[in-house]
Amino acid sequence: MKIGILTGGGDCPGLNAVVRGVTKSALRRGWEVIGFRDGYRGLVERDYVRLGDRDVSGIIIRGGTILGTSNTANPFAYTLPPLGSAEKPRDLSKPAFKNFRDLGLDALVAIGGDGTLTMAQQLYKKGMPVIGVPKTIDNDLSATDVTFGFDSALNVATEAVDRVHTTAESHNRVMIVETMGRYAGWIALRAGIAGGGDIILLPEIPYRAKDIIKAVMDRKKRGKKFSIIVVAEGARSEKGEMTVTKVVKGSPDPLRLGGVSYKIAELLDGKTGLESRVVVLGHVQRGGEPTPFDRWLATGFGVMAGELLAKKKFGRMVSFRGFGFTGVSIASAVNKLRRVSPWAQEVQAALAVGTSFGNSGITDKYKNK
Ligand code: F6P
Repeated sequence: MKIGILTGGGDCPGLNAVVRGVTKSALRRGWEVIGFRDGYRGLVERDYVRLGDRDVSGIIIRGGTILGTSNTANPFAYTLPPLGSAEKPRDLSKPAFKNFRDLGLDALVAIGGDGTLTMAQQLYKKGMPVIGVPKTIDNDLSATDVTFGFDSALNVATEAVDRVHTTAESHNRVMIVETMGRYAGWIALRAGIAGGGDIILLPEIPYRAKDIIKAVMDRKKRGKKFSIIVVAEGARSEKGEMTVTKVVKGSPDPLRLGGVSYKIAELLDGKTGLESRVVVLGHVQRGGEPTPFDRWLATGFGVMAGELLAKKKFGRMVSFRGFGFTGVSIASAVNKLRRVSPWAQEVQAALAVGTSFGNSGITDKYKNK
């Protein structure tokens, strides 16, 4: 067999470990492997590199992706110059198929999030043998219990919460730490719980200003003159909208979120007698080495992708369910976000140790009595 691999969408720790897992296991089966540069751009523009054992040796520890990535390259609506432009997206799926055939490929492994996997599914429907591998720090894909990159991001976010704790305590301040996660609050929730955050604000539980102020004041009354708020970038007030910082034309999801923590600081201003400060973690959460868990998960995903290829189970995506690796159909995996539910056990656990989610109207409804 000859297989092509690409990494698409936002990078995250563990991508290289998957590339290594797929490549090493493929080479041991006697297959040939090539890697397309910059996601689907490499497939459309026929820009690739041959991957041998040496190329993937030692990369399990490296963050980012040795293949490069793109969050806009889409074979069906190509916007990258010189072949396309944001104003005039072009359908370049035919040249993509031609490149696939001319290179003598038998299958494509697409490693990416919802956008990349949606394109993989479109290619599959048009006849390309494709296997998907789910990645995202947001951990928001419904067809797998966990995605690689999430644990690494969670470690960064938790360390940040730990670090602001001491400075918040010294100054009697409210420290607001903003995490990524798009429309799902997993990073904020778990970093908030692990870091002992006092208030956790999630996209899934729209906040009320009065509840956040009350939570800070209740702590003050108990002699705790500082508070830590962990807020997901997708959080919004009951009546408000999400905070959008940028619109990226040509991206499968053009909205870029960020800055809600400044709104929280503003609403607290002058209401609690405490000063507040904001830390927006941003891409720090996506950078650096993957954690041991993510290296383990990514290796398992890569090897499972090889098994699906060997069995010619195309149109499938590798997934981790319960305690094992498996394959599910890409079609069932895309366009379905896995979000935090207010009645989730871990939300209940946080409530039980006194954490506020900034809206007692919602959490009281589901609270374990
Ligand atoms: O989906 C991963 C993610 O890091 C989100 O958490 C974040 O909202 C977004 O990507 C940022 O995208 P970009 O790298 O394009 O700024």
